[in-house]
Amino acid sequence: MTTPDLPVVEGAQLALISGSAVEELQVLLERCEDFEILVTGHPPGPYAAQALLIDAPPEHPLRDKFVIGAWTDQGLTATVELLRDFPERHVWYLGLLLTAPEARGQGLGSRILAALKSWILSQEGRALRLIVQDQNPAALRFWIRHGFIEIGTATQELMDLTNQVTRLELKL
Ligand SMILES: CC(C)(COP(=O)(O)OP(=O)(O)OC[C@H]1O[C@@H](n2cnc3c(N)ncnc32)[C@H](O)[C@@H]1OP(=O)(O)O)[C@@H](O)C(=O)NCCC(=O)NCCS
Repeated sequence: MTTPDLPVVEGAQLALISGSAVEELQVLLERCEDFEILVTGHPPGPYAAQALLIDAPPEHPLRDKFVIGAWTDQGLTATVELLRDFPERHVWYLGLLLTAPEARGQGLGSRILAALKSWILSQEGRALRLIVQDQNPAALRFWIRHGFIEIGTATQELMDLTNQVTRLELKL
């Protein structure tokens, strides 16, 4: 499937992350170490950005993975990781939505989500799924406020932490 141009977001420019932007992504991830520690128990490692670009479920083609950056006048301010047609056709999976700490609560995450919904729909995506760790209730409120509904729970086994998570879905 061809990939349409990324959508327009008020106050930010979206682009796929590659090349020199990988270093900017690493800086953003390190500025967001609060989130990484909350969900994994440790701060991001020195190759976290590179890992984010290439980590994908087994047999999921990298052409169906998108790591998108949102640049504002403050530089790279947010990032989103999306998997197309995962775990099944017409379902997309959001692995990460992260806004720089000083930019949170100003609507950027909501505007990115709204824009990406139409972009996903234009690629025959009919639902968007994600998980939220139980220790991140503010994020759960964010997703519920945007219409996601709970479709289950799961246990996420990480190297240093075992998380209880809620599985959420938004029908597009
Ligand atoms: C969740 C997140 C992506 C939302 O992006 P954003 O740009 O802050 O989004 P908006 O400004 O559109 O919405 C803000 C809402 O997000 C929620 N939120 C979640 N975590 C937040 C945080 N650390 N700071 C501020 N708001 C947060 C709040 O419910 C807030 O609602 P409120 O304004 O009624 O308090 C962003 O806050 C973030 O990066 N949080 C840390 C990472 C994270 O938890 N990501 C989600 C993983 S499932």
